[in-house]
Amino acid sequence: MKITLKPTDPVKIEADVLIIFSWEDEIGRFSFLSKAVNDLVREAAAREEFKGKEEEYLILSPGRDLSSHKLLIMGLGMKEKADLYKVRQSVAKAFRKAKKFRPEKVVLVLDEYWFTKFKTEETVQAVTEAIKLSSYRFIKYKSQEEKAEIKEVSEVYLCLSAGKVPSAEKGVNLGLLYSEAACFARDLVNEPAAVTTPSYLAEIAQTISKESKGKVKLQILEKEAIKKLGMNAYLAVAKGSNEEPKLIKLDFRSGRVKKHIAIVGKGITFDTGGLSLKSSEHMETMKSDMAGAAAVLAIFKVLPYLNLDLHLTGLIPACENMPGGGALKPGDILISANGKSIEVLNTDAEGRLTLADAFSYLISRDKPDYLIDLATLTGACMVALGEEIAGLWSTSDELTEKLQKASENTGEKIWMMPLFEGYKELIKSDVADLRNIQKGKYAGAITAALFLAEFTKSVPWAHLDFGGPAFAEKETALVPKGGTGFGVRLLLEFFENI
Ligand code: BES
Ligand code: ZN
Ligand code: ZN
Repeated sequence: MKITLKPTDPVKIEADVLIIFSWEDEIGRFSFLSKAVNDLVREAAAREEFKGKEEEYLILSPGRDLSSHKLLIMGLGMKEKADLYKVRQSVAKAFRKAKKFRPEKVVLVLDEYWFTKFKTEETVQAVTEAIKLSSYRFIKYKSQEEKAEIKEVSEVYLCLSAGKVPSAEKGVNLGLLYSEAACFARDLVNEPAAVTTPSYLAEIAQTISKESKGKVKLQILEKEAIKKLGMNAYLAVAKGSNEEPKLIKLDFRSGRVKKHIAIVGKGITFDTGGLSLKSSEHMETMKSDMAGAAAVLAIFKVLPYLNLDLHLTGLIPACENMPGGGALKPGDILISANGKSIEVLNTDAEGRLTLADAFSYLISRDKPDYLIDLATLTGACMVALGEEIAGLWSTSDELTEKLQKASENTGEKIWMMPLFEGYKELIKSDVADLRNIQKGKYAGAITAALFLAEFTKSVPWAHLDFGGPAFAEKETALVPKGGTGFGVRLLLEFFENI
């Protein structure tokens, strides 16, 4: 699909569908449409009681008065409530509706009010992302017949005034890179766990490094090396599996460096729960337990093409959580890489064991300015925030604010959660320094974050628990079922503004 900027009259472009937008109760005249078409729109709006509310849309066939076959008018709701999240949602919804006509060419007229409220570049970026992200499908394993059924839109024209083209071009380019990265992460999550083993993730990292022509440096540590580093908590998780663990480290440094940031992605390529085995129902989606790792890889894939003043280190402690003969057992006590001992009471709380050692490794060797982790860590966070919002825990107000700003711009929702010290009591062990699950049944997500905090020393840290948003069990405007690519655009946007 090609996205082209068109500073021309939308009416004259020959396409299958022309998409335009309307604010609530502002069904006035569209200056670029002829009187005849405008009359048609007003009649239809009156007849169908179309008010321009969010979700509302009208489809017309104006005939000779329009070069496009169909005219689709999408409601935007009230102007004062406009934000970039809604821009993406309405473009994605309109685009999905337009696709019902199996179009080859679609024209989209960008709304003028958007440009008064948001920068041209960010508006066009949002529109581009909405088109790309809503068009994503994972069809690799479908039959040829079914693949042939799917007709892709080949050209999208974005209409806007000529003066906006230079900034809009930047927006299209960024939007394409951001969505390419997000879709790359989606692909990795959607692949079955039999494919995305720790070794496979290491191979992907190798390809990324090669393609970057030396800009992304790569180090892969094997089991023996991991053992030498004393990362016993991480290794303990890998023990029950036939798959070898791989500690994947990526590094990117631009010419000018403002900050050194480290990102850690939870990389459990399949989470059975280990000996604390999950029920079939809970295991169904556990190929997604490497969504943090997928996001880290996706970020490094596009990093060389973005203009960022940044030193970024990515770390993925990849392994599989299986209940094999050598598996970690409840009651086992592990000495982690920073010396703290951990009593394992539930082998299904494995993510924090791998992340704890990954943090210690980064802090003792790389000493980053900021540490951020992305982890499908707890079901409890999903209970609290649902499928579309990630929990954010942080030891730094600056990090929190910047991540919140990035979340507003990208529309990937996050919510600040408390690192309440009073609950530390719940993860104290009788026989070791820490226990890997909380006492009692409450505050599962907070105590998981408190556990991780024990391994961050004084490095400003932010933790994103995103088991809900990482994997969609129902389709939404921007995301089909399955891997969502959540976190990729959020962090890329965050890096733009550090
Ligand atoms: N990977 C899961 C968390 C998860 C659950 C992510 C559902 C996405 C959807 C994690 O390793 C886990 O199993 N956590 C346990 C922790 C419990 C044993 C303390 C949980 O949340 O049930
Ligand atoms: Zn688990
Ligand atoms: Zn897990």
